[in-house]
Amino acid sequence: MADKEYTDPERMEKIVSLCKRRGFIYQSAELYGGLNGCWDYGPLGVEVKRNLKEYWWRRNVQEREDIVGLDGSILTHQSVLTASGHVGGFSDPMCDCLLSKARLRADQIEPQSGTAYHYTGARESEWSVARDFAVLLREGENENRARKTARQYYAQFHPNKSLSPKALELVGESTTEEEDTTRYNPENGSLLTEAREFNLMFKTQMGASSSEEDPNAVAYLRPETAQSIFTQFKNVLDTSRMKVPFGIAQIGKAFRNEINPRNFTFRSREFEQMEIEYFCRPEDGLRLTDEWLENRLTFYNDIGLPREKLHVLDVPDGERAHYSKKTYDIEFDFPFGCQELEGVAYRTDYDLSKHQEHSGRPIEYFDEATKEKFIPHVVEPSAGCDRTVLALLCEAFEEEEVTDAKGKSEVRTVMRLHPRVAPIKAAIFPLLKKNEEQVRISREIQHSLERFMNVFYDQTGAVGRRYRRQDEVGTPFCITVDFETLGEENPELKDTVTLRHRDSMEQERIAISDLLPRLLDEIQ
Ligand code: GAP
Repeated sequence: MADKEYTDPERMEKIVSLCKRRGFIYQSAELYGGLNGCWDYGPLGVEVKRNLKEYWWRRNVQEREDIVGLDGSILTHQSVLTASGHVGGFSDPMCDCLLSKARLRADQIEPQSGTAYHYTGARESEWSVARDFAVLLREGENENRARKTARQYYAQFHPNKSLSPKALELVGESTTEEEDTTRYNPENGSLLTEAREFNLMFKTQMGASSSEEDPNAVAYLRPETAQSIFTQFKNVLDTSRMKVPFGIAQIGKAFRNEINPRNFTFRSREFEQMEIEYFCRPEDGLRLTDEWLENRLTFYNDIGLPREKLHVLDVPDGERAHYSKKTYDIEFDFPFGCQELEGVAYRTDYDLSKHQEHSGRPIEYFDEATKEKFIPHVVEPSAGCDRTVLALLCEAFEEEEVTDAKGKSEVRTVMRLHPRVAPIKAAIFPLLKKNEEQVRISREIQHSLERFMNVFYDQTGAVGRRYRRQDEVGTPFCITVDFETLGEENPELKDTVTLRHRDSMEQERIAISDLLPRLLDEIQ
């Protein structure tokens, strides 16, 4: 069984660096110091993301008769999110470090044990401050560290900002033994503020009115794509003539003002979701949740995430979202630990009922066969697009030792991306850029393939170097036009090229006319 706690920060650092160096993902507004929790996809990253979204859409919408698509607005009416419970309850507990002012998720603080040093204030000459503060020391730590931290805390209130904290005299020192406490910052031992709820939604103004009182002047950036599916359920039903069970799928941006965005794109403030709301009869909800779980695990396998790196967490009672009767989290072994990739939740009739109640408009479904009217239940497979891209990149990255043509060993960096999601499907090289015929044929191959897939033409440097550059960005196939293509050495090989495989580095000869069907077969 895999170790779910295993982390490999060095590997993660290499992946982040490759992503920037080769144009997969950049920090947003890097020029100005970066916008925390926001990311821009570069020329290669955007291709991976598009491939993933297109494949998800094909599998879940185009190849299914029972699912239709939707593209809802990002700006969301506040009544929608009041009805769904997001305005009142979409929050995380948050606390601040009294010393560094860092903001932390209270529910993610590791419990710690040790001795807490408490103080009631500090003084210096005529000046004094009376405020409670405390520092937690773990076993074996010197008490002077607590005093130094406390002085740094009280120095913030001194009018002379250049005064050394050492000049302060601490007041009212006492100690307590603490076990499994989450009241102290694990980074520096400083006391944290009491946890308070922090709503994660981005609120914005609509139109010219700036009054907070005007309900039509306030909108939210949606925190999940799901709500427009629920609010458009009736319209989709009436216009598409779908019959329960059926689903509505959507891919789009969602926004959450995460307290601690972290782990590269994993927890972002702006991200994309790929969601399906699959409407069904109440008695089918639990069974369909299990079926969707299997369906989604197969999907991940089909894009190159192996089953043994995926874990299913049956989320226990008390930890599920307020609307859910059953939730499976599909988790993946990222280099920073085993973390959620997707949630498959049985949302019951919670959302449709709430929208019916708050809007005062009927959202019931009439079953022609049984003549029954009811509010459908819903099963929701909700995947994170950015998280899946990150999982694909993490899974693909490999450094392997290989021997070059001269027998020298070297490290080859290779992104073993599944051909379905690889940003460039094939690179086309003339062996010699000075050979006009090789260049002409290479360009011809490029133009014949580019209508069907993303390809790349490269004529600079030795062919071995060109292969390595493509390995590093995950191009599964390289096509080389050489002298044999021209039929100069062996007339039988005329109009054939070398097809080189990224993973095995093996090469085969293939007729130019067979390239397109062969590549289409590999990438679809
Ligand atoms: N409609 C249900 C819903 O939104 P969720 O578990 O909060 O459920 C679903 O989100 C998926 O969206 C997650 O499994 C994750 O892949 C992605 N996601 C959620 N918050 C994210 C964030 N801050 N950054 C990146 N992806 C996120």
